[in-house]
Amino acid sequence: AGFTTVDVSGLEANKLEIVVWRGKPIFILKYSADMKPTDGRSVKIGDSYFSVMIGLCTHLGCIPGYEGEKKLFKCACHGGEYSADGVQTFGPPPRPLDIPPFKLDGVTLVLG
Ligand code: FES
Repeated sequence: AGFTTVDVSGLEANKLEIVVWRGKPIFILKYSADMKPTDGRSVKIGDSYFSVMIGLCTHLGCIPGYEGEKKLFKCACHGGEYSADGVQTFGPPPRPLDIPPFKLDGVTLVLG
């Protein structure tokens, strides 16, 4: 119990996928070719890189939205911003978006 599995092979690049795990929104973002993976935050699954993050703003817990044209997350509550890999770049968020515990099973993400 408590595990959530997501087959990421069909996800579209630069389009945010949100699944719910233990009552929390989990962001899964497949990178497009022009998005640069970062150490410790980007996950290689199959031939692609992804961000896998808990979708709760580290300021006060709102759910940020993803702006695909700008490739950033924006939190409507107090204007916080994060890069596509979830690092805070503007406003009050004190730290990057948290990364949930997960494992990989081929192209399947196993959260929990
Ligand atoms: Fe996101 Fe305050 S809760 S900026």
